[in-house]
Amino acid sequence: MDPEQLCFIDLRDKPALEKLFSSTKFDAVIHFAGLKAVGESVQKPLLYYNNNIIGTVNLLEVMSAHGCKMLVFSSSATVYGWPEEVPCTEDFPLSAANPYGRTKLFIEEICRDVQKSDDEWKVILLRYFNPVGAHPSGHIGEDPRGVPNNLMPYVQQVAVGRRPHLTVYGNDYKTKDGTGVRDYIHVVDLADGHIAALKKLFDSKTACEVYNLGTGKGTTVLEMVAAFEKASGKQIPLVIAGRRPGDAETVYASTEKAERELNWKAKYGIDEMCPGSMELG
Ligand code: UD1
Repeated sequence: MDPEQLCFIDLRDKPALEKLFSSTKFDAVIHFAGLKAVGESVQKPLLYYNNNIIGTVNLLEVMSAHGCKMLVFSSSATVYGWPEEVPCTEDFPLSAANPYGRTKLFIEEICRDVQKSDDEWKVILLRYFNPVGAHPSGHIGEDPRGVPNNLMPYVQQVAVGRRPHLTVYGNDYKTKDGTGVRDYIHVVDLADGHIAALKKLFDSKTACEVYNLGTGKGTTVLEMVAAFEKASGKQIPLVIAGRRPGDAETVYASTEKAERELNWKAKYGIDEMCPGSMELG
């Protein structure tokens, strides 16, 4: 898109959304707008319900009023909670351990209800696993303000000397080295997953479908740190601490459904994710 055409609207500002949809005809929407810090959501639940849920309801209402009924929504693997087994398949039972997770869960349900009420709607819910890395251009990546909650931005900040060490939350899990296992996915693969989802919406009779976007591979915290050290040539000092409340032990995706139905598969592994993350640190 031409950057001149970019505009920024708060989804809670319904008149502004109305104006946008009145001035431009959209075929489909990819909805990524949302707050995502777990800790903050516990402190400020109403902010999360207001921003994530009311924003989405406004968007769906305005889309519907303007006959734009194709949606790709960014959900999260957080909806699997602490899964009883892995890999997580899309039909696993869902739960949420905090207000942020509940907003993802509720929005998934809202989308299902909207689609059921009107079969002109076509919706794809994408459950992201752990997005990391950056576009090789350096224009897209993660460099959060304040203290990062997530592993990779924290490791980056240690590498550039902004923080003295990484705190490892627990080394007594039943995993190969005792640290938590996650499915890290390169942001470029994640972006491609959205294109694949859009293609599916345009080309088929989808009603409301959900797909995992992950690599299908689990990586421990210590493996991630080692990969980052290799890519950066810097040592990351570690302090081992207790488990972080609400953390699951092992979470990784089954990617079969996305491979089969979206014709999409992640191309990159942690050795490609770490150099990209480093440049932004
Ligand atoms: C977290 C959120 C999840 C959200 C996702 C977005 C929690 C409990 N969960 O998932 O809801 O959808 O981010 O990307 O916050 N770790 C450390 N030290 C750190 C940071 C993390 O050891 O300073 C460990 C964690 O214990 C975990 C792994 O690194 O085992 C990944 O953590 P993180 O990047 O925060 O992602 P999730 O916990 O999977």
